Amino acid sequence: LPVAIFANSEAASREVARRIAEVITENDNIDRNTVIGLATGATPVLLYQELVRLYREEGVSFKNVITFNLDEYYPMQPNSKQSYVTFMKEHLFNHIDIDWNNVHIPDGTLEEEQVAEYCLEYERKISLHGGIDIQILGIGRTGHIGFNEPGSAPNSGTRLVTLADLTRSDASEDFGGKENVPTKAITMGIGTVFKAKEIILMAWSHKKASIIKKAVECEISTHVPATFLQLSDKVQFVLDKGAASELT
Ligand code: F6R
Repeated sequence: LPVAIFANSEAASREVARRIAEVITENDNIDRNTVIGLATGATPVLLYQELVRLYREEGVSFKNVITFNLDEYYPMQPNSKQSYVTFMKEHLFNHIDIDWNNVHIPDGTLEEEQVAEYCLEYERKISLHGGIDIQILGIGRTGHIGFNEPGSAPNSGTRLVTLADLTRSDASEDFGGKENVPTKAITMGIGTVFKAKEIILMAWSHKKASIIKKAVECEISTHVPATFLQLSDKVQFVLDKGAASELT
């Protein structure tokens, strides 16, 4: 797997932002929209900061950008402090010229019986826009991408999933206690991610070193869903030194 190792997450995030801006510019030049798949969490914060800087200082415009977020907790109100809608507004959307109609984040407010149809529609919308040009991923300590926890199938689509215990522990600080972390989420599937034309998985710090080693070097298995990325020739791992420290 192509792995790029940077001195620190700042330099790595700048490089990923530069690549996103390049794809936007290429598509702008041929009058095409750019479809970007986005992640939340700690990992992409510096990437979004750099995209905001590119918008403010370098004239990069997001007017023709369409976004699809990977996931949202379920249930979740969009105006809640912990929602991924709030996260995306705070870190990116409030600071750039994106059209809110072009933003898609899974809806955590649906009745459970509406979710399956909604998820199919999410997939259809991605296809209608021509598919994802560039997909940004983080990785959880369970090996999840999006919220595709161990047990997820490589051809899985957008769906309602149950969060792993470790994933809920890792989110407990944000929610003021693990008991407040939702037990479920709506997530794009591994199959959905695989359809993207280009996939960039980012990981920072030694805390991610052991899961990155598994994802990049260990046998492909649903026990570590990120290992499925080894099957794609469109994936790049962008790491800082800490996250890369256990690679052989
Ligand atoms: C978030 C997502 C998750 C995170 C992962 C890592 O949209 O899809 O897979 O990327 O849980 O989270 P952080 O970046 O907080 O370590």
